[in-house]
Amino acid sequence: MDENILHYPTVALDEENGALVILDQTRLPGEVRLLRLTETEEVRDAIYRLQVRGAPAIGVAAGFGLYLAAKRIRAETPDAFLEALRRAKEFLNAARPTAVNLSWALERMERAALEKRDGPVSAIRERLRRECVAIYDEDVRMCRRIGEYGLALLHDGDGILTHCNAGQLATSRYGTALAPIHLGRERGMQFRVFADETRPLLQGARLTAFELMADGVDTTLICDNMVSQVMQNGWIQAVLVGCDRVAANGDACNKIGTSGVAILARHYGIPFYVLGPTSTVDMRLASGAEIPIEQRPAEEVTEMWYRERMAPRGVKVYNPAFDVTDHRLIAGIVTEYGVARPPYTQSLADIFRRKEAGEAF
Ligand code: MRU
Repeated sequence: MDENILHYPTVALDEENGALVILDQTRLPGEVRLLRLTETEEVRDAIYRLQVRGAPAIGVAAGFGLYLAAKRIRAETPDAFLEALRRAKEFLNAARPTAVNLSWALERMERAALEKRDGPVSAIRERLRRECVAIYDEDVRMCRRIGEYGLALLHDGDGILTHCNAGQLATSRYGTALAPIHLGRERGMQFRVFADETRPLLQGARLTAFELMADGVDTTLICDNMVSQVMQNGWIQAVLVGCDRVAANGDACNKIGTSGVAILARHYGIPFYVLGPTSTVDMRLASGAEIPIEQRPAEEVTEMWYRERMAPRGVKVYNPAFDVTDHRLIAGIVTEYGVARPPYTQSLADIFRRKEAGEAF
C-alpha cells in the first residue's frame, strides 16, 4: 500500500458501492487505512470519534452521508421522503456541535431537496447527489484559493507555527492553514514549520507532522507548552491556524490551545492568521461567546495514548475541545474571497455581500 497519505482522499463518495470512503485518522500515523461506511449510524460515529475530522471535512462527509441515507429511504411520496430525510439530517447534525460546517452542509442539502419537492422522489435524490458533489468540489476550490491568499502573506524561508491539523487531512484537499505551505512547496518554496502536538488528541503530532513530512516540508514537532520558547528564539515569522466557527465580529473558535498561541503571538509581535472558508463563518452569531464548545470524555486526558493511566481515578477533568480567540488578536482572516482585516464586522460582512451576490472566488 502507498504510504504517502497525500495520495489518498480524506473523504470521498463511492457511488457504485453506496459508501462514504474516509481515511481513518484515528489510526494515523501508524496505519494508513481506508474505511467504507454505508450506514448513517457509521457516518455519525466516524465524525464523533474523529475518524474523519476538521471542519470542512466534517461538512463534506455529512453531505455524502446524507445522500447515502437518502438512497436508502423507502418512501412513496415526496413528503414522506423529506420527513425521513429531515430525521437523518438531525441525526447526523448531532455528531459534533462546534464546527458549523456540519450544519451548514446538512442545511444546504435539505434546501436542495426542498427545491424538488413537487417532483418525484427520484428527482429529489438526484438533486441531493449533485449537491453533495458540489459541496466537495467547492471545498477543493476554496482551499486552493485560501492557499493562494495565504501564500501572499508569507516569505520564502519563513518559520511558521501551526496548531492542531488544518491540512489536507481536515478538508477535501490542500487544507486551510496548511494550504499556503502545500502550494508554496509546489512552487519550490521552503518553510520551516513548527507543529504543536495539540493535547489531548495529538492532531499536530499524529496528523500535521505526518502530512507535512509527506510533502517534504521542514517540520519540527513541539509540545504545546514550548510555543513561547520557540517564539522567543525568533524562529516564528507567522502563525497559521484553521477554524471551526468564526463569529460575525471575527472571534474565531478553533482547537483548544489556539487562543493561548494567539496571546503569545501578540506578546512577541508575530502576526496571527486564521484561515478558513466562508462555510466556517457563522454570520448569525454576533460574537464568539455564542459558539457552542464541545466537551469530550475525560479519558482523552487521563488515559488515551498512555501505556498506563496518568491521573488518579476519580479526578475531575475539564476537557473542552475548542476555545475562542478574541478577534483583536487576529491579524487577518483568510477566506476564499481574500483576506478580511479588522474591523471584521465590516470586512466579513463585505465578503458575505460579494458571496451572496454570486461573485466567483
Ligand atoms: O477536533 P478536530 O480535530 O476536528 O479539530 C480540528 C480543528 O480544530 C481544525 O483546526 C479546524 O477544524 C479547521 S480544519 C481546516
